[in-house]
Amino acid sequence: MTATPIVLLHAFPLDHRMWDDVARDLARTRDLLAPDLPVASGEPLPEPSLDVAADRVADAIRAAGGGPAVVAGLSMGGYVALALLERHPELVAGLALVDTKVVADTADAAANRRRVADEVEAAGSVDPVRGMVDVLLGETTRSARPEVVERVGAWIGEQDPARVAWAQRAMSVRPDRTDALRAFDGPVTVVVGDEDTVTGTDAADHMVATAAHALLVVVPRVGHLSAVEDPAVVRSAVAELAQRVDAARG
Ligand code: MLT
Repeated sequence: MTATPIVLLHAFPLDHRMWDDVARDLARTRDLLAPDLPVASGEPLPEPSLDVAADRVADAIRAAGGGPAVVAGLSMGGYVALALLERHPELVAGLALVDTKVVADTADAAANRRRVADEVEAAGSVDPVRGMVDVLLGETTRSARPEVVERVGAWIGEQDPARVAWAQRAMSVRPDRTDALRAFDGPVTVVVGDEDTVTGTDAADHMVATAAHALLVVVPRVGHLSAVEDPAVVRSAVAELAQRVDAARG
């Protein structure tokens, strides 16, 4: 049997480049897809919905040969991975849920997202979300690795304001996906940075307790963007998951 392909889904407010350091080695042995969400840059944006984003990922998996795939999503990418699992379970052979959560937003959090979306649109720039770099990166990275802070800040600065607003609105209406995760019988790896203050270890523990076959990987001294802050550990976790999937599929 050929090696199961891997799909890498990015966080907000970033794009597929956040996976570059993880993808480099994985691409030597497996087919990889790392799409920009919800559509490639320059294409018209659909309605703000992570379900629609998941349907586009499903189209891309089918176009690339049909799957099923190992699907790894970090934060917003994890929300889309869970939407894909709920809507297209036949395409998901294994799941890496990285610095993400399975539950929906509280009413306050959803309202805050709509406010940020409005601000970004009114400003016509990503200025209202530039400060997120401090939230996304862990304390150790912020204090000791200025080049990583600069790199992530540059990525945020390069985002299209319309796509940033789209993502905030889409995330604000996503439902709880606990039932979909509970029903999944395949291998799951939950990854969390121990300095993640956005979707931290409680959210990770909840996903591990919910899934039938989950392993937990806690990445020391990194924050919410574990795949950027310590790509080697996240790469090993995804590679090990893919091997478990290959073995289970025979
Ligand atoms: C992300 O990293 O994708 C975002 O922090 C997710 C969120 O805002 O819930």
